[in-house]
Amino acid sequence: MFPDGEDYVRLLGNVKGEDVIVVQTTFPPHRYWRLLLILDACREAGAAKVRAVVPYLAYARQDRIFQAGESLSARVVGETLSNLCAQIVTVDVHKEDIRTFFRIPFTNISAEEPLSRELDRLGVQVVLAPDAGARPRAEAIGKRIRVQVDHLEKKRITSEMVEMTPKSLNVSGKSVAIVDDIISTGGTMAKALEQLKKNGARDVYAVGVHGLFLGEAVQKLTAAGAKDLIATDTVETKYSRVTVADQIVGALRAPLPAIAKR
Ligand code: R5P
Repeated sequence: MFPDGEDYVRLLGNVKGEDVIVVQTTFPPHRYWRLLLILDACREAGAAKVRAVVPYLAYARQDRIFQAGESLSARVVGETLSNLCAQIVTVDVHKEDIRTFFRIPFTNISAEEPLSRELDRLGVQVVLAPDAGARPRAEAIGKRIRVQVDHLEKKRITSEMVEMTPKSLNVSGKSVAIVDDIISTGGTMAKALEQLKKNGARDVYAVGVHGLFLGEAVQKLTAAGAKDLIATDTVETKYSRVTVADQIVGALRAPLPAIAKR
């Protein structure tokens, strides 16, 4: 790294003519630059084919223009990566639709299976999605471990503040997992925890595929009564107790998916 924080990348091995797989998660988000530089170094060194495994794909949440004047960051990610590699493999991207921004095969694998195994092992009896958008993931997990599924209604006020419509939930005395794709500031999970605690849930697990745990997120969730925090290893933290390694290997061995049409 240069003194000003710029990354410097140099390959020490020989990749000429090789099929190279680059694994680089993009959290913190400046690692996205590192990924681009590594891919470029492979291309420069004559790799026959370069594939990128990006377990957490940053800049994917801005997947449409919400207000005039904004940049469409997911499209920038799609366009830059399409220039530098032959396939992208990622995990539980915020919205699968961003595949249309890529001109290369885009594989979005799911952490549902390993997360389900862990929640089953913990004896979870209810899976709760913190908003309607997260419901399909909660449904899939609930179906695998054969438990009740519900969801809350969330309204985002600012990037750090959310509101949740109170709801009567059938969770009294039960062990519940709130499952979301990303735990960032922990605001969403903390509000969902409040609802569960009001409804008498016994043990509540805050589960995110990608656990970023920014700032005071851990303290916030603990104070809100979380029994434990659970995330996968797409972003390494002390809560990354579920691995998606097998799913990534499976995706790399599978036939390439078709390139999405715009
Ligand atoms: C947003 O739509 C995502 O699915 C997550 O709910 C969000 O990123 C969580 O953020 P935070 O932890 O800051 O509430």
